[in-house]
Amino acid sequence: MFDGSGNAAFSGTLADYISAKGPDLLARWDAHQDWFDARMGRGVDPYCKVALTRTGTLAQSRLRCGRVVEGPNFASQDYLNLSSHPAIAEAARNAINEFGVHSAGSSALMGCTALSEELERRLAAFLGYSDCTVFPTGWGAGYGIVKTLVRPDDHVVIDCLSHACLQEGARNATRNVHAFPHLSNDAVARRLTRIRDENPDAGILVVTETVFSMDSDVPNLRELQALCRRHGATLLVDVAHDLGAIGPTGRGYLELMNLVGQVDIVMGSFSKTFATNGGFVASNHRAMKLMLRGHCGPLLFSNAISPVQAAIALAALDIVQGEEGAELRGQLLASSVALRSAFKDAGFKVGGQPTAIVPIYLGDARTSRLMTREMHEAGILVNLVEHPAVARNACRWRAQVMAKHDLEQVGRFVSAAAAARDRISKEISCAT
Ligand SMILES: Cc1ncc(COP(=O)(O)O)c(C=O)c1O
Repeated sequence: MFDGSGNAAFSGTLADYISAKGPDLLARWDAHQDWFDARMGRGVDPYCKVALTRTGTLAQSRLRCGRVVEGPNFASQDYLNLSSHPAIAEAARNAINEFGVHSAGSSALMGCTALSEELERRLAAFLGYSDCTVFPTGWGAGYGIVKTLVRPDDHVVIDCLSHACLQEGARNATRNVHAFPHLSNDAVARRLTRIRDENPDAGILVVTETVFSMDSDVPNLRELQALCRRHGATLLVDVAHDLGAIGPTGRGYLELMNLVGQVDIVMGSFSKTFATNGGFVASNHRAMKLMLRGHCGPLLFSNAISPVQAAIALAALDIVQGEEGAELRGQLLASSVALRSAFKDAGFKVGGQPTAIVPIYLGDARTSRLMTREMHEAGILVNLVEHPAVARNACRWRAQVMAKHDLEQVGRFVSAAAAARDRISKEISCAT
């Protein structure tokens, strides 16, 4: 807990501050503010950065303390660099000219546009389903599909590292939430057997992701889907991090596993590869669209995706499905492999599969905060992930690679990291 000493900046985690007690709802957050301010004062608050330039492999960003960092950027989610693609900017301008900037209503009323309708049709075909519904955010799609499908007497069996939108949807839908150890299909099988024995009539939703966003690892989805069918459960897979960015035709790990169109329900986000905000839910079920439009809070009670967002996602999908997309995916994979190998060669532990996410493990809170400060001093932009988003002492950089990163940028990052690690470990050994 924050104790007013300089040490607070290097110890504690967000989890220490989220259950502060007291009747004053706002005063409960004072210690949280003090802790972040102490961190800022010591240069170890890397959060809430403000971009001062457009997203790219080089960028300029301002930290909360006002310091400006300029250099190689591994902190943005723009996996194929489409956010600065001229065809996408032109599609956005055309959409503004034709439809204006705003959807001006819920998709249940008159917020859909010819563009959002075309996007749903094109995405359904790309994903191999008969139906797709787009949302204004990926978060709303994930939260909304779980919360709308699952009723209080139903059960959710969810990978313990699933994204917050899925976890929150599950917790708000039912008390019967069974988190299973990360990637363990054996654990899913045990839970499904038990739940079915005890509740033959309950609905069961099994929830996982293709590529996990903190570890870049992947479940065995073929086995999981077969398990769900055997026990009368429905499988939902979040494809936010690989759709468009992985696979010969950009259909992600579902394509690599020969499962395109075969998983019960997929959901995803446009915010990683498709250069805009927004998300979707796709399936072969005839009742899905009207169920979501009429009963899913984040869709029904929120304005629809804007015409500009829909036009951007459509133009991104054109690129993803064309030769340029295949080339960009090749470059992205090469960038990821280069960064992973360079960090491994320098003696760092790197997790998961080669995807746009490269988790580089740093260890405890103090070391990881100091390492991140040193990156800012060296002009490197990278995001630090700490507890409670990951286990204590498993703090890591979640480096985000883009197709256009080059070897010089990779080299600068890895050399800066190796030099920082050597400096910090020397300081620690001198102090002990
Ligand atoms: C796995 C996963 N699902 C869903 C989301 C939410 O997507 P969006 O940024 O479009 O709200 C994210 C983004 O953080 C994510 O990483």
